[in-house]
Amino acid sequence: MNVLIFDSNEKLNEAGANIITGLVQTNPRAVLGLATGGTPVGVYEQIVKDYKRGLVSFRGVTSFNLDEYVGLPVDHPESYRSYMNHHLFRHIDIPAEQTHIPNGNAEDPEAECRRYDELIAEAGQIDLQLLGLGHNGHIGFNEPAHALIRGTHVVDLAEETRRANARFFNSIDEVPKQAMTMGVGTILKAKTILLIVRGADKAEIVHRALTGPITTDCPASLLQTHPHLVVLLDREAGRLMA
Ligand code: PGA
Repeated sequence: MNVLIFDSNEKLNEAGANIITGLVQTNPRAVLGLATGGTPVGVYEQIVKDYKRGLVSFRGVTSFNLDEYVGLPVDHPESYRSYMNHHLFRHIDIPAEQTHIPNGNAEDPEAECRRYDELIAEAGQIDLQLLGLGHNGHIGFNEPAHALIRGTHVVDLAEETRRANARFFNSIDEVPKQAMTMGVGTILKAKTILLIVRGADKAEIVHRALTGPITTDCPASLLQTHPHLVVLLDREAGRLMA
């Protein structure tokens, strides 16, 4: 595990973007696992800057997002498809048909989960999986539980997660109660995992996830077992790790 702590958001964003654009520069057909939420916004901004400066092309890249809300219209501003279009896809040259996000409105959610896993398998291994970290230790929407699920599945969101995400909606009542998420088996199969965490409110969960017992009570603790884990933290999130 390689843990890097940054003094400024700008440096953290540059480091995160450099890892992703560097991979695509050396492997133009890379398969990227992408994340949403507040954490990666600045990294995507920096990637767009790199793209606009002509440093990288995403024409050959395939992407798979971690998750999507169930039952939120795809054109809702808070759907993860809208998020990805807004923050990344519409600003770079990745072909839309090479970008994948689970369909949270599928009539048959079980079939959609299987379809998503098959698409990932057909693309081969995910070269780099970008992850944020929930306050409760979730990765993707794999919430703390007695047992974790390997592949893509529908999950009931923890109240804590709905409360945290209420900031993006008018009220907590509008936050969907379920999501479709890649499972921990798929996440852990990625060749490299890039975990990014920011903010004092995440310092304790970062410390627990990366140094505490490996347990399904804290899904991110499974990342300790990954052979190529890179962790980028701001000073506040890294307070207990220094
Ligand atoms: P955030 O969410 O980036 O919005 O803090 C991270 C997560 O819940 O995985």
